[in-house]
Amino acid sequence: MAKRTVKDLDVNGKKVIVRVDFNVPLKDGVILDDNRIQAALPTIKYLIDNNAKIVLMSHLGKVNHKDADALAKDLETKSLALVAARLNELVDTNVVFVPATRGEQLETAINALNEGEIVVVENTRFEAGETKNDADLAKYWASLGDLFVSDAFGTVHRSHASNYGIAQHLPSALGFLVENEVEMLNKAVYEAQRPVVAIIGGAKVSDKILVIENLLNTADKILIGGGMAYTFFKAQGKEIGNSLLEADRLDIAREILEKGKDKIVLPVDSIAANDFANPTEVVTVDDVPEGFLGLDIGPKSLALFKDELQGAKTVIWNGPMGVFENPTFAQGTIGICEIIANLPDVFSVIGGGDSASAAINNGFADDFTHISTGGGASLEFMEGKELPGIAIIQDK
Ligand code: 3PG
Repeated sequence: MAKRTVKDLDVNGKKVIVRVDFNVPLKDGVILDDNRIQAALPTIKYLIDNNAKIVLMSHLGKVNHKDADALAKDLETKSLALVAARLNELVDTNVVFVPATRGEQLETAINALNEGEIVVVENTRFEAGETKNDADLAKYWASLGDLFVSDAFGTVHRSHASNYGIAQHLPSALGFLVENEVEMLNKAVYEAQRPVVAIIGGAKVSDKILVIENLLNTADKILIGGGMAYTFFKAQGKEIGNSLLEADRLDIAREILEKGKDKIVLPVDSIAANDFANPTEVVTVDDVPEGFLGLDIGPKSLALFKDELQGAKTVIWNGPMGVFENPTFAQGTIGICEIIANLPDVFSVIGGGDSASAAINNGFADDFTHISTGGGASLEFMEGKELPGIAIIQDK
């Protein structure tokens, strides 16, 4: 059944708690990429325009509550203060940052909100109970508002207090970002126009087994690249040198190859180097020789993948083709971006994470129909799993 969206709520004059995903990359006190803040703006602006009193909650990074020194460092470096300052530049209303996750200062700030104004609460993971979905914490946070909106697609695969627990206590709805993500991913996976070509990469087979198994039911072809390809090569008895191998996944790799023999397409060449950290010799090879490791797909593989992608009506991509952070091994991933960018009339979706950053950082952001804001969340969607942060939201 369809979930309620923010438009189904009467938000006028109400305190609306919105779980956003402001988990942006930060380095030395600078936001490297504000995509996730931008992506939350449609819901935030709708709430401003409709006179809600807005309370934004988000996590930022992982917070270590087991080690006192690590915790002290996390409390110092993972504050949402900078994010609130960036948001303040993007909206035309009063944004108050509260450096607390509970207590008088927070409650006073929320009670002082005028219609259309925003309070940003400090990093929800500063509370040890957040990731445990602590019942008292969820109840307390819910007591701060009248309504709850789930707009953090990046965390809908988690059952945490701020995205799942609060929703157990308040009338709830999806925000526009989550609504759009679900619509786009549904169109790519379950309501796709054929032919459907999936491209799956990344380092480990173990991370992608469930995705491949689910996509074998829905896709016409599955092109496999990235470090995970070498476990499949080994399963076929090929030479892989020192390439990444998950020896304990060889059986499942064989099973997948058998099950998907009409659908799975593996690379036919590699860009390999004699050393990962400090390569002095880089070669293009069909089989990776001893002493070398494959770090990207080669030109013949790109040509093969290009042929397979011609005529596709739907393309789903998750996971880079090589170690794209190093320009020497980025051509496979960039090549895939170029091929997809030039396909006519295609519905193309990147399922978040590394492939999304690769496309965005190489200037292909506008060449895809949809780039998901969720890494783990879009992966679990593609695996066919129920996402608790969506399931808990009230039906229409
Ligand atoms: C993400 O970056 O994918 C989301 O913000 C979720 O973060 P998490 O993996 O730390 O829960």
